[in-house]
Parts: sequence; structure tokens; C-alpha cells
Amino acid sequence: MQKKKLVVLTGAGISAESGLKTFRDSDGLWEGYHVEEVATPRAWKKDPERVLQFYNLRRKNILDARPNAAHTGLAALEKDFDVHIITQNIDDLHERAGSSNVLHLHGQILKMRSEKDERLVYDITGDINMGDLAEDGAQLRPHIVWFEEPVPMIENAIAVTQTAAYFVIVGTSLVVYPAAGLLNYAPSGIPKFIIDKKIPYTSSLHDITVIEKPATEGVKQLATLLKNLAAG
Ligand code: APR
Repeated sequence: MQKKKLVVLTGAGISAESGLKTFRDSDGLWEGYHVEEVATPRAWKKDPERVLQFYNLRRKNILDARPNAAHTGLAALEKDFDVHIITQNIDDLHERAGSSNVLHLHGQILKMRSEKDERLVYDITGDINMGDLAEDGAQLRPHIVWFEEPVPMIENAIAVTQTAAYFVIVGTSLVVYPAAGLLNYAPSGIPKFIIDKKIPYTSSLHDITVIEKPATEGVKQLATLLKNLAAG
């Protein structure tokens, strides 16, 4: 029998129990930085060294972190469902947990690219330094979608969401668009779930099963609910 499509939108909250800080749980400060100082094209223009430093540190933290039970729980759902993860996270914890379809809306920390030509993308596990150049001679920058930059993967994410049989949201404050708008593309009438330590506001909460728990516990509960639904 063909597996039903389960689409999962994840945010920083799913990696919190792996020791990676979320963005908005720390009063707008992110590892001590204001987001505008490090995650905008303006910041890159003004002080690229600082931006590189910030992402070099985040890359180290991510490489030191391990997937938690929420990541592995979603990967395990592939046994019964055609699981598609759409993540806002730049870490690779879904991949390391074993998920096979992961779409990164906001880029990936383990990639870098030419600051001039976004098609020149390379893998990286070490630091990026000033003077490190792409094939076109331009400075290399993190392969991250900064605020005010277009989100090229959103079209694919919308297409996947529109064909979902189940839609799940895990660990996102739903304040950053276009990611937050994906929920509106999920077909009406399909079962929807939201898992968050502190459920964020969304206008369609009436239509969603709410699981107000840390991601590791929430995904466990989700697996049981989905099994019952699929059996029922
Ligand atoms: N389990 C579940 N949810 C959690 C946990 C946890 N252990 N810890 C925190 N959360 C929830 C918070 O309650 C919040 O709703 O995770 C969410 C984290 O929200 P944000 O910090 O805003 O992260 P996110 O929604 O992923 O941010 C979106 O903003 O800065 C940009 O590009 C960046 O991708 C990021 C985007």
C-alpha cells in the first residue's frame, strides 16, 4: 500500500533539546548577538568578519550537537509514512537522525557559497575566513538565507505542503514569513498537529491538534496519535 504523505515543518525548538539555542527564547538576543548585526545583507556589508565569526561558532556548536528523540522519532515515522521535513533550521540534525527528505528553507550551516553567485555552493565543516574565495574569485559566505533575502526553496515547500495527507508543526514561533504561512497551504480537512513547549499564536488553532510539550515528548505522542488515525 502506498504510504500517506506526512509533511512536517520544524523550527529551532526541535533542536533545543540537543543543546542548540532557539532565537526568540532569549529576549531577542541570539548567543549575545542582535539578529540585525549578523543575519542581514547589511551586516555582511558592514562587518563581514563579525558575521563569519558568528557562523563559525554556530557551525562548531552544531557539529558538537547530536540529534535528539524528536529528530529520530520523525525519522522513524518513515516506516509507515512518506515523510517530508521542511525545516527552518540550518543544522543537519534531521539528516543525522536518518530523515531522507529534508528541505532547508533558510539554508545550511555546513555549506558556503560565493557572495556574488549563489549557484557556487560548497560543503564546509571548518571555518570560513576573510580571503577564502570561490571559483569566481568572490569572498565565500555562509549558505544561509538572511533576513531580507529571498527564500528560493519556498516554492518547493508550498508544493509539498499542498499535497500533504497530514501536516505537523514542531518548535517554531511562526513569526518568520514565508515559512509561517505554509500552514495556510495545507489542504483543509486533513489532520494537523502542532507541538511546542509553549504553543505560539496562529489564527487556525481551532483546526489543529495541540500538543503542548517539549519536542522529544511531543513527537512520541504524535507517533501514537498517527498510528491510531492510520489504523482507524
Ligand atoms: N520543544 C518544543 N518547542 C520548543 C522547545 C522544546 N524543547 N524549546 C523551545 N521551543 C519553541 C518555542 O516555544 C518557540 O515557539 O520553539 C520555538 C522557537 O521559536 P524561534 O526561536 O522563533 O525559532 P524559529 O521559529 O525556528 O525561527 C524562525 O527565525 O531568526 C530566524 O532564520 C531564523 O529559521 C529561523 C527563523
